[in-house]
Amino acid sequence: MPFSKLVKKSAPPKKVVPPPAAQPKVEKLDASAPPKKGQQPLSLVRGFRDILPSDQPYWKRIAEAHDRVATAYGYERIDTPIVEEQALFVRSVGKTTDIVEKEMFAWETQGSEQVVLRPECTAPIVRAYVQHGMLNMPQPVKLWYLGPMFRYDRPQAGRFRQFMQAGFECLGEGDAIIDAQLIVLSWAILKDLGLDPVVRVNSLGSPEARVNYRNALVAYFRSKRNHLTEEDKHRLLKNPLRLLDSKEEHMQALKAEAPQIVDWLDEESKAHFMRVLEYLDEVGVAYQLDPYLVRGLDYYTKTVFEWYAGSQDQELAQSALGGGGRYDGLVEQLGGRPTPAAGFAFGLDRIVSRLKEMDAGQEPPKKNIDVFIAQLGEMGRKRALALFEEFRKEGIATGEALAKGSLKSQMEIANRRGARFAILMGQKEVLDGTALLRDMDSGTQEIIDAKKAVHEIKKKMGTLAPTA
Ligand code: HAM
Repeated sequence: MPFSKLVKKSAPPKKVVPPPAAQPKVEKLDASAPPKKGQQPLSLVRGFRDILPSDQPYWKRIAEAHDRVATAYGYERIDTPIVEEQALFVRSVGKTTDIVEKEMFAWETQGSEQVVLRPECTAPIVRAYVQHGMLNMPQPVKLWYLGPMFRYDRPQAGRFRQFMQAGFECLGEGDAIIDAQLIVLSWAILKDLGLDPVVRVNSLGSPEARVNYRNALVAYFRSKRNHLTEEDKHRLLKNPLRLLDSKEEHMQALKAEAPQIVDWLDEESKAHFMRVLEYLDEVGVAYQLDPYLVRGLDYYTKTVFEWYAGSQDQELAQSALGGGGRYDGLVEQLGGRPTPAAGFAFGLDRIVSRLKEMDAGQEPPKKNIDVFIAQLGEMGRKRALALFEEFRKEGIATGEALAKGSLKSQMEIANRRGARFAILMGQKEVLDGTALLRDMDSGTQEIIDAKKAVHEIKKKMGTLAPTA
């Protein structure tokens, strides 16, 4: 029976569809429609960007490096939602921080919940740790994550409104060796990626030490009030530690004379910090002591650190690749019992920028395919579609251009993709049950049994499994 008749016979019976109810006419918004005359083409929202296929190899490499290091150090992957309650960050990151004061994408849902796009992931991890009873598991609980964060920041080099972070959090252990190992493992990731970073470290001490230091700092900067800008004065009022972060010229001399937190550390924090440094010396991780490193989030206690790597771009060189520290009060602050914890996060967009800078001017490595399956005529095309599946299932790197008709253009694609072999299926080959196998280097051709195409290619590539 001809194929067309078979298809007709097995076709399902026609359903009787009632006529659609009259709908009010609504003009549909079609984002893919070409702009009408006088209309602007649609473009990205400011501070957001596309990650194009040409950049994807960098992202893949970075994700794989994190995955490898996470496995090696016993960290388990966790994913938390992008939307969280606004209160989570107000209570953890801090009401007077830049992030909470001006950088959150916040809105009220239809159900009157105040929510935000997460600006960071430490608070969500702590929320999950408390909410899922991880407090009762053997401690420490070691978690890592990778995903987008959102901050309504001023867009500039290395600063986006949606950016990717990968972070590691170690909850339930307060020993200084954890802080040191977090620095070592973050160093291992950057090294794995071929970067030569330096870490800046400091200690913020206990919350009490921090309050005493804060008071000393306020007294000092008040005495220098007439040298401060309006923005500095606002910071002095709201979050004086952030004055030490300032990269502004006029602040450098003022900072040099300012009281330093090391002189205000409590004995326990001092001893803890000394041990962190000793452990780093033991592993050979070079660090810089930075008395002005305070970090922009309120939850830190004791050790804080940030990673930097050289860049030709001044702005990029001054922006941290990542940072973190200890946050011993946060679990309790978010409703758990007192639990020490520490962690860090990398800004992956900034790491990608550095990697691209290192690769600038170099040809990206070409990934050649083993086989290209070419076809001629409808019969050949059908057979080629199935043959491609056979090769793909065997894990052989295979190319095709099934929608193309001309053999010449298919061969050009095969060459461009560096194919070692091509297999041609035309009408004659399909009828004979054969295929034409071409060695792309020598140009020699031979007729093979189509059923043995995979076997023949494996034989030529030397990847045939030995028979017992
Ligand atoms: P953070 O210093 O706010 O810390 O962010 C970590 C990293 O994310 C920064 O060093 C930077 O590389 C990147 N980053 C921040 N904002 C932007 C932006 N607008 N555009 C591009 N990259 C950006 C935290 O978020 C803490 N949760 C880290 C942590 C984990 N502390 C303890 N555990």
